[in-house]
Amino acid sequence: MEQLRQELPGWVEASRLKAKEGRVAAYIPELAKAPAEALGVTVIGPDGEMVSAGETSLPFTMQSISKVFTLLLAFMDNGEEGVFAKVGMEPTGDDFNSMLKLELVEPGKPFNPLINAGAIAVASLIHGSTSSEKTERILRFFGEAAGGERLGYNEAVYRSESATAHRNRSLAYFLKDNEVLGEEIDVEDVLDVYFKQCAVEVTCGQLARMALLLAFDGTDPLTGKELIPRRYVQIAKTFMITCGMYNASGEFAIRAGIPAKSGVSGGILALVPGRFGIGVVGPALGSKGNSTGGVHLLETMSSAFDWSIF
Ligand code: DON
Repeated sequence: MEQLRQELPGWVEASRLKAKEGRVAAYIPELAKAPAEALGVTVIGPDGEMVSAGETSLPFTMQSISKVFTLLLAFMDNGEEGVFAKVGMEPTGDDFNSMLKLELVEPGKPFNPLINAGAIAVASLIHGSTSSEKTERILRFFGEAAGGERLGYNEAVYRSESATAHRNRSLAYFLKDNEVLGEEIDVEDVLDVYFKQCAVEVTCGQLARMALLLAFDGTDPLTGKELIPRRYVQIAKTFMITCGMYNASGEFAIRAGIPAKSGVSGGILALVPGRFGIGVVGPALGSKGNSTGGVHLLETMSSAFDWSIF
């Protein structure tokens, strides 16, 4: 931790240069307001010791990072079989919002739970009698994973996405047509849950705390409480390695070699198994939707400390 404390500020400044190569996501209009040059990181160890550098007080929405935690909740609600009846286990090699493979192989069934189509299918599996009850369960679970109270979602980002999500709507209606979303399921209700989970707002510290829980296989090392069965965390971490950075997952596995999940707000949740939880934010994205500064920073940290799990 001491060496990390000394090196981190310099590494953040070096990775800021990479942020200049990226662009803030604009397809959700509200996200375009984020500061492109910002970069922040928090690392938490098992005893709660934290090291931070850069703009770690900047709140941001989880976006696709939320997909890991709704997947975990869906496993707890439905078991492995229930979830894998609706989504597959394979990476796509395509963009996160691609439709291509939905029709190509097993009609309608999304390849994995981390692409948009898969995450929408997963959102439909969250238990609750209304969409607001489902959202409430998600906010409580996310809050518990972050070591505290219920988390909230950013209303403006939620509205902005909901008003412009033509592609996600078409993915969801395609899933409905193929009965991945069953007869009893209202497509707009599922989308509402999905947009709200994506708009859950966190800081680097909260994200790092959520990552720490995964680094310790679902048992919070600070409280000793098991929040998620180990097997489900194992599956989630495997997806993070194979699909967490979308069609840049292979490159990230080679360069950094740690489970991670990115979001279009520029957040990245990453972890070093049995050791650290990491939360990063850097709103400027590369062509595949990952934070350019954040990816560079994680690669730098991982190679300096030999964190690769491989
Ligand atoms: O559904 C969407 O497009 C966004 N709410 C989330 C996508 C996302 O974060 C992809 N990540 N890189």
